[in-house]
Amino acid sequence: MSEKLIEVVDTAGVVRLTISRPKALNALNSAVLGELETVLTELEARNDLRGVLITGAGEKSFVAGADIAEMRDKTPEEARAFARQALRTIKRLETLPVPVVALVNGFCLGGGCELALACDWAVASDNAVFGQPEVLLGVIPGFGGTQRLPRRVGPAMALDLVTTGRKIDANEALRIGLVNRVMPQAELEGYVEELSKQLAGNGPEAVRNAKQAVHDGMDQDLDSALALETSLFALGFAGGEQKEGMSAFLEKRKPNF
Ligand code: HXC
Repeated sequence: MSEKLIEVVDTAGVVRLTISRPKALNALNSAVLGELETVLTELEARNDLRGVLITGAGEKSFVAGADIAEMRDKTPEEARAFARQALRTIKRLETLPVPVVALVNGFCLGGGCELALACDWAVASDNAVFGQPEVLLGVIPGFGGTQRLPRRVGPAMALDLVTTGRKIDANEALRIGLVNRVMPQAELEGYVEELSKQLAGNGPEAVRNAKQAVHDGMDQDLDSALALETSLFALGFAGGEQKEGMSAFLEKRKPNF
């Protein structure tokens, strides 16, 4: 049996996915994307899912990009099909109804950065390196980078990165809002444990609605987005979580979601 390209570890509904192609610094080829999509299909069917963490195998790289060897000889049509496969897979990761967090443990370049951008937030080890170096290969980002990067860090910084192809370190990534936290690689494990406990304990309906309000609202004008928020806020009162959460507060106990 061939080795798995995506390792899956489940801790009480918080699932850690590890992209495992360390000899190619976890570069994304169509086999990795296919396996990731199969895993996502399984995750979408679960109602006990509380969070997804995604990382790369080894201590050197999160994902060093789309696989350059696989791409070199593609025709435009084949390149389009490859980009579409990746966009579809990344979108499915992005729209999981739970927080999706990138644990960026090293190189996070090209398609790797685009994968991290589709996560709700990202935490980086202090040796992480980010960039959209596609222009240095004679192409542009094709896994969503020209669209998600400006939405995350603003158009000027996105244009700086996608037109120069320059790499930035973890602290610059933090400063521009590409990642939320930076920590020594040795502390990532502790963070995962703490975060997993937190995600496993929160009410899934409220978390799902909060995520949907932010994501869907970002694509709408302010008034429509505020109306969406109101709908999702009111919807929260239809389920059991709101009664339990508010009762627990008033009774000075921990909620049991
Ligand atoms: C295929 C890759 C790869 C990639 C690294 N490798 N990145 N293979 N695709 N994206 C392979 C190398 O060929 C090498 O294989 C092995 O991984 C180790 O890499 P080295 O270069 O020897 O390591 P190092 O000197 O430490 O340099 C690390 C690095 C460099 C700075 C990350 O590998 C690098 O620049 N990689 C390419 C980064 C990049 O341009 N990414 C964007 C890709 S385009 P061997 O067999 O020699 O040991 C992209 C487009 C997305 O993502 C949209 C498409 C539609």
